[in-house]
Amino acid sequence: QRRLNLGDLTTKKNAGEPIVMVTAYDYPSAQIVEAAGVDIVLVGDSAAMTVLGYDSTVPVTVDEMLTLTKAVRRGLGRPLLVGDLPFGSYEISDEQAVITAQRFVKEAGCDLVKIERGGTSVDRARALVAAGIPVVGHVGLTPQTAVALGGYRAQGRTVETALALRDDALALQDAGCAMLVIEAVPREVTELIMPLMRIPVIGIGAGPATDGQVLVFHDLLGIYDGPAARFVKRYANVREASVAGVAEYAREVREREYPAPEHEYAMPDAEAQRLSQ
Ligand code: KIV
Ligand code: NA
Repeated sequence: QRRLNLGDLTTKKNAGEPIVMVTAYDYPSAQIVEAAGVDIVLVGDSAAMTVLGYDSTVPVTVDEMLTLTKAVRRGLGRPLLVGDLPFGSYEISDEQAVITAQRFVKEAGCDLVKIERGGTSVDRARALVAAGIPVVGHVGLTPQTAVALGGYRAQGRTVETALALRDDALALQDAGCAMLVIEAVPREVTELIMPLMRIPVIGIGAGPATDGQVLVFHDLLGIYDGPAARFVKRYANVREASVAGVAEYAREVREREYPAPEHEYAMPDAEAQRLSQ
């Protein structure tokens, strides 16, 4: 199967066919989402929390993200690959944004890169597009600046903030973004924005009106314990299955059930004889 391209996404949008996006952070998760037939894979900076154990997305570095993104690239064939530019790697200037984004394209093989927020990020988006790098915008709850937004909470719940969100979405589209992610907004905000958007819009906690949905791999598979955002739906309990598997291994080792004869290597009889002499 050939690699998808941006035209395929536009075709899906125009046909009203929902676009499926999910995160992945390493080689096996890339192979899993590929086998499941998703359209777009995002190596989200949510990796900071899901796989690196930081308590927000802020500390993760470009080098850490590149290591994970390269691993995903090696496991991926058909879906489009989006790299997530981490906090502090694109805000300073257009030049900084282009230098960082080029690494995600050249070193990690990303098809697109994602940056958060409106405002100065609109200029960054324009600069990246001018440099030939397709860009995904991200508005609503933008975790890199969650502290400034008052925490991990829904955005656009007043008329003023809803209109500001709409303006950010439009500005990012006008700047040449190829796609937009809207996170954690009431469905009314999404419904206000959607008629204005020619580019594919992917929602996460933004209701059903978007062109597609994205969820975090670890959230939808239930890989960790603890509370999840309102928009998360668990489709599996991988943590429970994993703990049970490792606990069973530990029990068998302690009770000397593992390894069994079928896990042993054989030495030719003649050699075993000679060794025991
Ligand atoms: O980092 C991430 O996983 C994301 C998605 C939730 C959109 O940015
Ligand atoms: Na992100």
